[in-house]
Amino acid sequence: MKDFRGKVAVITGAASGLGREFANTAAGLGMKLVLADVQAKALEHATEELLLGGAEVLSMVCDVSKGSHVQELADSAIARFGQVNLVFNNAGVGSGGLIWENSEQDWEWVLGVNLWGVIHGVRVFTRVMLECAARDGDFEGHIVNTASMAGLLTPPAMGVYNVSKHAVVALSETLYQDLRLVDAPIKASVLCPYFVPTGIAQSHRNRPDELAADERITPSQMAAQLLTEKAVESGKVTAADVARITFDAIRDGRFYIYSHPQALQAAEERFEAIVQGSQPADPYAATPQVTDMLRAGIKGRR
Ligand SMILES: NC(=O)c1ccc[n+]([C@@H]2O[C@H](COP(=O)([O-])OP(=O)(O)OC[C@H]3O[C@@H](n4cnc5c(N)ncnc54)[C@H](O)[C@@H]3O)[C@@H](O)[C@H]2O)c1
Repeated sequence: MKDFRGKVAVITGAASGLGREFANTAAGLGMKLVLADVQAKALEHATEELLLGGAEVLSMVCDVSKGSHVQELADSAIARFGQVNLVFNNAGVGSGGLIWENSEQDWEWVLGVNLWGVIHGVRVFTRVMLECAARDGDFEGHIVNTASMAGLLTPPAMGVYNVSKHAVVALSETLYQDLRLVDAPIKASVLCPYFVPTGIAQSHRNRPDELAADERITPSQMAAQLLTEKAVESGKVTAADVARITFDAIRDGRFYIYSHPQALQAAEERFEAIVQGSQPADPYAATPQVTDMLRAGIKGRR
């Protein structure tokens, strides 16, 4: 997609962080916006700002882990704008700690948003786009799924998040292959950011009551939380940078999108170990202080 003006972008997790910046960039390019998030207040605030800037905006409180909400989002987008061209399946949350210490609720919450959110987004919006393409021979579509470098690596004390993001990479690669198989005028990309300052370390702010965390936080969960806060806060690449990099990739039709290409060294080492059949590579080999911090936290020596 080279020309964005007048086209329609759907963005989940649009009230904060990367999603908020996708909305800014899309508005700046003259796109019409469909914004979805669970945070009603923050979404209202984002919508007001974008309307003041002159964008056409439809916003909906929508929990992407629920298929019926995503279907309603798509129906509303078509009812209002008649087509959908660009979809960012971006909403996401995080939860850390040793993999056997995560509760069933942790798994349900994180997989619900990070994986089921993307499953619903792909399931619902690819069909909507195919219908748009059947009506309009010049139709162009693009779906961007937000995974993470955690979708290519397996850092310790991040198991639930890693599993969700690896699944998003697999889902996105398969989406790419399937769209190619049927010559659809729809492209796919997977965005794999490293640490970027956003609200991700405070994901618990959106955690639903029915999937509330255990009251007793384990030392490993505490250590992972502190590490995430530190890493996210100190990220030098901004959410606006990631939005710019992502739109460049959409223009170029690139599938894999990276915010920190230097972090791919660890992915190379992981794949080398897989091919060699050796033990899994250490994702923090270049930053052993991170492993030290986790170990100290788990032992209660922070
Ligand atoms: N910031 C990073 O360092 C980083 C790194 C890698 C990947 N990511 C991914 O980027 C994406 C965006 O996160 P962010 O960093 O901008 O964090 P963020 O917390 O600033 O934004 C995430 C948004 O998703 C929304 N959300 C949460 N649950 C939802 C649900 N059930 N339905 C709809 N919306 C929901 C939140 O309300 C929030 O507005 C996520 O998928 C995250 O996993 C972030």
